[in-house]
Amino acid sequence: MKHSEYYEEKQGTKYVAPMLYDLIKMIKPKSILEVGAGYTTAFICDAIENTETKFVSIDDYPTKFKHDKLTFINKRFQNLSKTIHNQYGGFDFVWFDAGTSQDYAEFINEYIFMCTNYILFHNTLNKNGPNMNYIVIKTLLDEFIGKQKYEMINILESNKDDQCSLCLIKLNKFI
Ligand SMILES: C[S@@+](CC[C@H](N)C(=O)[O-])C[C@H]1O[C@@H](n2cnc3c(N)ncnc32)[C@H](O)[C@@H]1O
Repeated sequence: MKHSEYYEEKQGTKYVAPMLYDLIKMIKPKSILEVGAGYTTAFICDAIENTETKFVSIDDYPTKFKHDKLTFINKRFQNLSKTIHNQYGGFDFVWFDAGTSQDYAEFINEYIFMCTNYILFHNTLNKNGPNMNYIVIKTLLDEFIGKQKYEMINILESNKDDQCSLCLIKLNKFI
């Protein structure tokens, strides 16, 4: 298993991490923001090797992962958006995998202004359907972006019982 030294079963990103790698290769974003570091961080770094893509990852827990493409911010993401935006500008590929639905809400409230294209969220479905993260995302994006100006797809990971989905948002802010 690639990057097995960073893999933790309970984080549930066994299939998501290689999928992020492929999406980044396809989309070729200019700037990537990750909130919630770990196994996925290693795959994102692989995907942007030998590119000009900027990569900022935030986690309040220290990471052992080091890479010359990675700018790691070892803090809570809350109240950092202006500092990050001043330094790096907007992000056209955002991967959010941290905390509770309150964190999801706080992230959208604070960071949506600097998300310019794709946003991916972990853990929006349970086996029985949408969970609270899904409701928070949909409610806030409808309010801030407008129903017609984003597309959302939630992919159920039926191999898992917990954190069992990947949510892919494409913003069309400018139509
Ligand atoms: C599910 S794990 C991330 C898993 C990782 N993406 C992977 O593939 O292994 C969630 C992470 O979010 C971090 N976290 C939780 N709340 C946070 C916050 N408010 N600010 C920054 N990081 C936070 C935790 O420290 C934890 O490392």
